Amino acid sequence: MTGTDEDDVRPTSLAAIDRAIHQCRRCPIGLLDNTAVMGEGLKRSILMVVGEQPGDQEDRAGKPFVGPSGQLLDRYLAEAGIDREATYVTNAVKHFKFVQRGKRRLHQSPTSGEIDACRWWLDSELAVVRPKVVLALGGSAARGVLGKSVTISRTRGHPIPLDGGGEAWVTAHPSYLLRLRDAKKREQERLFRADLAAVAERLAELSA
Ligand code: URA
Repeated sequence: MTGTDEDDVRPTSLAAIDRAIHQCRRCPIGLLDNTAVMGEGLKRSILMVVGEQPGDQEDRAGKPFVGPSGQLLDRYLAEAGIDREATYVTNAVKHFKFVQRGKRRLHQSPTSGEIDACRWWLDSELAVVRPKVVLALGGSAARGVLGKSVTISRTRGHPIPLDGGGEAWVTAHPSYLLRLRDAKKREQERLFRADLAAVAERLAELSA
């Protein structure tokens, strides 16, 4: 599936990106019964947080990270002293990918090709917001931000310079923490907390 010529003119404002993603047919996800979910936050934010894609609740609300993963993210951000209100929050993929099972819409992970197709919009947001730090939550977000697949355990905990300016930090997706139990959960929560603390420290350095 290809975009139209019109799609290839990069929008230069958040409002224009928002309008354009609602028309996007660069991949098949936009053909499902869903709504594009635009990033949310200040036009100029020092931190951009990138998730995978909107979930069922985000699709209904038209806002990123409002469901269970978002509530968990909010808790960890607050604990690290990072103000979500001062952060731009978005997703690597702008539409909710799902399969219908009765009344339920079950999340489906986007393919690498779908993430790469949606990079056009993430790059457009990056060009407008120009964050100094981009925090990618999970593998799909990391691919969207870095343009290649990485292993979270090998990539987390240090900054990765971005071609367009600023730096990326990679950590797990909060939904991963929600799925774990017992000792593994405690260990992954500790790592997630440490990643957010490192990002908070970096933000303080960059703001000094
Ligand atoms: N998971 C994500 O990656 N993004 C959202 O907006 C919600 C859940």
